[in-house]
Amino acid sequence: MNILVTGGAGYIGSHTCVALLKQGHSVIIADNLSNSKSETVMKIMDIANKEVTFYEIDVTDAEAIDSIFRNYKIDGVIHFAGLKAVGESVDIPLNYYYNNIVSTMVLAKACQKYNVNRFVFSSSATVYGDNKVPFVETMDLLPTTNPYGETKAMSERILTDIAKANPEFSVALLRYFNPVGAHESGLIGEVPNGIPNNLMPYVTKVAKGKLEKLRVFGNDYPTIDGTGVRDYIHVLDLAEGHVAALDNLKIGAHVYNLGTGQGTSVLELVKAFEEANGTEVPYEILERRPGDIASCYADASKAKRELCWTAKRDIISMCRDAWHFEKNYKE
Ligand code: NAD
Ligand code: UD1
Repeated sequence: MNILVTGGAGYIGSHTCVALLKQGHSVIIADNLSNSKSETVMKIMDIANKEVTFYEIDVTDAEAIDSIFRNYKIDGVIHFAGLKAVGESVDIPLNYYYNNIVSTMVLAKACQKYNVNRFVFSSSATVYGDNKVPFVETMDLLPTTNPYGETKAMSERILTDIAKANPEFSVALLRYFNPVGAHESGLIGEVPNGIPNNLMPYVTKVAKGKLEKLRVFGNDYPTIDGTGVRDYIHVLDLAEGHVAALDNLKIGAHVYNLGTGQGTSVLELVKAFEEANGTEVPYEILERRPGDIASCYADASKAKRELCWTAKRDIISMCRDAWHFEKNYKE
């Protein structure tokens, strides 16, 4: 199939493009490179040993998107393009609402006009808010405390309403847990802007000596060792989850958790990283980070049942591949 991958030069998108190419799909990437580099597109082609078509365009640009749909027979869309920094979304909410919502609507309109009925959307476990773990797709969503989370919940609603109104439309709303790791080649991975906010990229920078020590945000949560628990998922498993979602799309809107179902605390992750890589990760305990919840992990049984997909890679391989990429990466 010809798959339009928006945000395909980004972290999760690039790994998914490789997985799609491996499965024999053709890939057209639309990315404005606001948080990625064109070299990544070359690396995708190197890894997969296949060509991809790349357009440096903004997905909110309806004209530019229309011309792609006009020129190619698009069979399906995977929509990754979006802004994703939670803290930044509080400071510049309008950029987040505009970018993340308008891009979804522009794509949905083009799909309607060109009768493209396969759509896969990047949502986030953040839409569950501070619910009871494990998070199940049927739970009522709790309000998120930031505009980023709102854009995900709203995009889910928009796509769900479109599916209700169009009996031919099929959309998978994929709620990712915490993607980490990198392709085993070390060629593509996560490249955060500036000082990382997220745990794994921070840990790899500490291991590399670029940052002095990890700041562990709180050790008084009701968890195994008092530190926050998350469901880390290898980005390669996540990428394969997208191929499975595309292969198993069914009419209507369907929500799937993409996680391992396994919780790991901050200190457990530090220990796993040290064990996997034989490096030290010095840390200090600080206050809780505002907005954080104690525990977040998936009930991943629906994706297993309906998409025939489960995450296969363990926390050790996530730590090993994240470190392999960071060591290789030239700033
Ligand atoms: P990323 O920033 O690495 O990739 C997003 C890509 O989209 C970038 O290449 C960026 O240049 C591009 N982009 C952004 N706005 C665009 C626009 N208007 N037009 C064209 N391109 C645009 O992020 P990622 O980690 O790969 O995340 C991909 C998607 O998954 C995002 O929608 C994100 O919100 C969602 N998500 C990510 C995580 C995570 O932890 N990484 C968790 C849950 C959900
Ligand atoms: C964050 C986002 C979430 C998003 C997810 C994507 C917030 C509040 N939430 O989730 O919306 O979907 O990223 O991956 O930003 N930690 C430290 N020290 C650090 C960094 C993190 O101790 O330097 C701890 C956190 O307190 C948390 C865990 O590590 O317990 C994971 O944090 P992080 O990687 O930022 O992800 P989330 O907070 O789960």
